[in-house]
Amino acid sequence: MKKFPDGFTWGTATSSFQIEGAWNVDGKGPSIWDTFCENETNIADKSNGHIACDHYHKFEEDIKLMKSLGIKAYRFSIAWPRIFPNDANSANQKGIDFYNKIIDTLLSHDIEPWVTLYHWDLPQHLEDSYKGWIDRKIINDFNTYARTCFNHFGDRVKNWITINEAWVVTVLGYGIGIFAPGLKSDELPYKTGHHILLSHATAVKTYREEFQEKQGGKIGMTNNCDWREAHSQKPEDLEAAQRAVEFFLAWFADPIYKGDYPLSMRNRLGNRLPHFTEEEKELVKGSSDFFGLNHYTTSYVAALTGEEDHSTGGVNEGMIKDQDLKLIQDQSWDKTDMDWPIVPWGLQKLLEWINERYDQPDIVITENGCAMKDQIVDGKVNDQNRIDFYESYISAVHKAIENGVKVKGYFAWSFMDNFEWASGYEKRFGICYVDYNTLKRTPKASALWYKNVISQNAV
Ligand code: GAL
Repeated sequence: MKKFPDGFTWGTATSSFQIEGAWNVDGKGPSIWDTFCENETNIADKSNGHIACDHYHKFEEDIKLMKSLGIKAYRFSIAWPRIFPNDANSANQKGIDFYNKIIDTLLSHDIEPWVTLYHWDLPQHLEDSYKGWIDRKIINDFNTYARTCFNHFGDRVKNWITINEAWVVTVLGYGIGIFAPGLKSDELPYKTGHHILLSHATAVKTYREEFQEKQGGKIGMTNNCDWREAHSQKPEDLEAAQRAVEFFLAWFADPIYKGDYPLSMRNRLGNRLPHFTEEEKELVKGSSDFFGLNHYTTSYVAALTGEEDHSTGGVNEGMIKDQDLKLIQDQSWDKTDMDWPIVPWGLQKLLEWINERYDQPDIVITENGCAMKDQIVDGKVNDQNRIDFYESYISAVHKAIENGVKVKGYFAWSFMDNFEWASGYEKRFGICYVDYNTLKRTPKASALWYKNVISQNAV
C-alpha cells in the first residue's frame, strides 16, 4: 500500500461549458464556445453545449453521487457569461444564485469546493466588443468578474483557480485555431498569453488586498504540461527537451515564480514575446499560493537535424516551429482514446522538474485522467483500462512525494463523461458514465476503485 500524506486532497473535476447545458437559461449569455460550436465543422460530432450533461438542472443528483463515491473535493468552473451575460459590469443575480446553490449543496455534503474562474467560456460580448484576450481591456473586466465571485462566494469557497490552462487557450485558440475563438496566428498566442498572466495576477492582487485576510482562502493558476523526455542523451536532444518544457509550462510559470519569461523563449521569439514592465513583473511574481497542474501525456523530443520531412506537417505543427525541435512517439506505448500515450513516469519526472525549478512549491494536480471507449453492459461499465491508468499515474505521484515533491492534492478528470471540446461527446473521460439519451449517470468501475483509494488514502 502506498500511503499518501495526511490531509491529502482527493477530488474530481469538471468545467461549466462541458457539463452545465442550460446555455440560454436564467439570463445566461452566449460564450465563445457557444459561437464556435455553431460552425459544425469545428466539432467532431457536430454537437454543442446546449444541453451537455444538464448539470444545471441535475446538480443536486450529481453532488449526491459524488458524496456516495466518497469524493472529498470538487473542482468546477463558473461560467463567466452566467454572471456577466450582456456587458462587463451588470451582474446577473440568477447566475449568482446557481453557484450559491452548488456551493451550499457541496458544503452540506462535506465536499470542498475548488472553483475555477475561467475554463474557456469567455462571454461572447467581450469577444464582440474588443476581441477578448487580444486586448488589454480584458484585464480590468476579468478583475471585475473575479471580484464579484470573491465577493459572493468567497465566504464559503477557500480554493480559487484563476485560469485553467493558458497554453490551451492561447495555442489551440489563437495559434492553431482548433479551439474557440478559432484564430490562426504566430503572434497572438504570445500576446493573449501575456494578457492572461496579467489578468490572473491582477485578480490575485484583488483577492489578496480585499478578501484573503477575512476569507482565509488560497488562490493560484492551473497550467497544463505534457512531459518532454529527451530522445537520446546527446546534448542537443537534452537541450531540446528542456526547451520544450520551457515553451510549454515555464512560459506561464516562470513569470509567476521568477518574474519573467524563460530566456529560451526570449532568444527565439524576440519581440514577438511581449515584455513586462518592472511594475508588471512585481505584480506577476509570487501571484500563486499553489502550483496547479493538469497533466495527460508524454512525448520524446529531439533537436532538428535539418533533414526532417516537412511535408507531413508533423514536425512543425502549431507553435512547435518556434522551438526548433520535433516530437517523437514510442510506438510501443499504449494510448488512450484521445491517442495520447500512457506514460506514468512522465508525470513523476514533470513533478520533480517543477519541484526543482520553482523551489519546492505546493503542487495540486488539478486534472489527470483518460478517455477510454467505455460501454455500458448489463448496467455496468467495466473500465479496467481506466483503473490501470489511474493506478499507474497515482503511483507515479506517490513516488514523486517520496522523493520530496510537495504534492498536496489530486483531482481525477473527470467526474462524469462530458463535452470534450472539439472532440464532442464521443470521448469519455468520466469516472461516471453519462447516457446522452436519458442523461442517466452510472458510476464506472473506476469510480468505485477511486472511492477505495480515497477512503484508504492510499493506492
Ligand atoms: C484539459 C481541459 C479539460 C479536459 C481535459 C481532457 O485540457 O482542462 O477541460 O477537456 O483537458 O482533454
